[in-house]
Amino acid sequence: MGATNKARLAVLASGNGSNFQAIIDACEDGRLDAQIVLLIVNRPSAYALERARAHGIATQVIDHKAHPDREAFDAVLAEAIDAAHPDWIIMAGFMRILTDGFVNRFLGRLINIHPSLLPKYPGLDTHARALGAGDRAHGATVHFVTPTVDAGPPIVQGQIEITPDDTVERLKQRIHGIEHCIYPLAIEWLIEGKTDFDRASAQTNPAVVDASGAQIVPPRP
Ligand code: GRF
Repeated sequence: MGATNKARLAVLASGNGSNFQAIIDACEDGRLDAQIVLLIVNRPSAYALERARAHGIATQVIDHKAHPDREAFDAVLAEAIDAAHPDWIIMAGFMRILTDGFVNRFLGRLINIHPSLLPKYPGLDTHARALGAGDRAHGATVHFVTPTVDAGPPIVQGQIEITPDDTVERLKQRIHGIEHCIYPLAIEWLIEGKTDFDRASAQTNPAVVDASGAQIVPPRP
């Protein structure tokens, strides 16, 4: 496949962007037949911007504080995304609740990563909640975005075992490790047509991989 046929990715981030970096690395080392055509951040101080600049990726800052409400912010965001003509829109630590109109406009092309084994622990403080509940397993989920937050069809989950020496901070680091493995993997499956919104919606359970990247549960049709 020539450079012009590469899948086009637009990434939305708010902060550090370590998942964004994992996707950059996968594009650069050839694991993904894709190019990141645009990074959009909603915070001018987001470190993800530095990562984009270091790799020659176009950036756009759309500060949510400069817009009167969610609808106005989402309209500008949608325009910027459309102008970049992405095949896939990747939320990588994008800390904004999106309007139904925005989500429905990009339904089936918009994916997110969440630091829990959804449907467990949608929302915030997932590591503390998993520890507090005495869970033995924890993980992260890549899923299609639908209007209900953190409830869209899952594509793949990364799972780790919680150990007695795990703290919130340690768990957060370990979960980041597995996120960096499953996010490029999910994007690869989408690009290669191994999954899509309808198939992910229909399957009973998502694929699950462990920390080594080995698939421990295949997706069920
Ligand atoms: C990740 O834990 C992701 O699951 C959540 O936000 C965090 C982003 O981290 N949605 P980073 O900015 O990619 O390092």
